[in-house]
Amino acid sequence: MPNRAVVFVSEATPQLAVEHLAAIMADAARFNRNAGISAVTLYDGRRFLVYMEGPPDGLDVAFSRAAGVSSHAELIELARGRVGQRRLPYWPMRCVPLSPPELVQLVRADWTSFLQREGDQTGPATAMEMLVGLVEPIAKAG
Ligand SMILES: Cc1cc2nc3c(=O)[nH]c(=O)nc-3n(C[C@H](O)[C@H](O)[C@H](O)COP(=O)(O)O)c2cc1C
Repeated sequence: MPNRAVVFVSEATPQLAVEHLAAIMADAARFNRNAGISAVTLYDGRRFLVYMEGPPDGLDVAFSRAAGVSSHAELIELARGRVGQRRLPYWPMRCVPLSPPELVQLVRADWTSFLQREGDQTGPATAMEMLVGLVEPIAKAG
């Protein structure tokens, strides 16, 4: 069955404690590992951008679990669809810090079809190219 992906942004509840966030991420990783989902949560201290991918059944449940939590609000889905091969196969869930401007850039970028182009490209980077550019170096560094 082809892999699917979903990406959303949301606003963290004010004063979300570091320990609480760590518990949320650990809980998400536990579920995702069992469901074969790989995921990453980018966090700028105020907002989340969550990308998750994997088999459709597991993905739908993981998304519903994430959407139903009171630790964030104003969830906006940026894209959902097929991805073929996994783009970020590194972790069942991992929280990656980024700056607020980086997050804004990612939200505003083009998420259409999770497009990632081959080789050197002109024109603005697609959202997926930006996301991979942010996450891959961290994964490769171990
Ligand atoms: C930003 C964010 C991302 C999440 N991502 C996932 C996920 O990928 N998979 C999953 O099963 N649950 C995910 N969840 C849900 C949490 O794992 C879990 O349901 C939550 O920690 C419940 O605890 P709480 O009510 O104390 O916040 C996510 C929650 C948040 C806030």
